[in-house]
Amino acid sequence: MNIETATRDDLPGIVALETGFPAGERWNDQLWSDELAAADRLVLAAHLSDLDGRSCDLVGAATFQLVGDTADLHRVVVAEQHRRRGFARVMVVTGLHWAKGSGASRLLLEVRHDNAAAVAFYSDLGFLVIGERRDYYAAGAHALVMELVLTGLDLDAVGAWGTEVAQ
Ligand SMILES: CC(C)(COP(=O)(O)OP(=O)(O)OC[C@H]1O[C@@H](n2cnc3c(N)ncnc32)[C@H](O)[C@@H]1OP(=O)(O)O)[C@@H](O)C(=O)NCCC(=O)NCCS
Repeated sequence: MNIETATRDDLPGIVALETGFPAGERWNDQLWSDELAAADRLVLAAHLSDLDGRSCDLVGAATFQLVGDTADLHRVVVAEQHRRRGFARVMVVTGLHWAKGSGASRLLLEVRHDNAAAVAFYSDLGFLVIGERRDYYAAGAHALVMELVLTGLDLDAVGAWGTEVAQ
């Protein structure tokens, strides 16, 4: 697995991952392009690596923003056939290191209340639900606001670094 800062070359592959979201919630080329262009973002691409360690197929992406002392996780997605192999965890923990190193005291995100996989994923990382935005995505589709406090957090204990991940 190679987790790297995404480049414009990754854009088509990243946009192709959007089929992992429900039809009305997919980001288009322009939205991802804006993430890549913005100065206060960290956009990560997860690639498989070949036997020489060179990046090949793009299988995941994540984007974070720093606003004052708060970082936001805007999006994380992994190709369906590569899920449950730790790709999202390594991307998010990479983002946590970036956020903490940039002075953020917490990381916030919004997740659809019925997105059981994502809620389980964030909970596993230690995020707690701190609020709800009713009808945020659509009528009846609420957003849970989740937070991970970074101040005093031992990021190594979050569990990604050094984790053996299947290729
Ligand atoms: C949520 C998502 C990004 C997780 O990606 P992933 O690479 O499969 O996650 P990881 O392999 O890093 O999972 C780490 C841990 O999170 C938890 N987890 C992840 N997916 C889970 C699921 N479907 N059910 C229960 N727990 C889950 C587990 O504890 C897992 O550890 P384990 O596999 O050792 O049990 C992925 O399911 C996805 O792309 N979903 C569609 C897009 C989306 O909803 N993104 C989030 C909203 S922005």
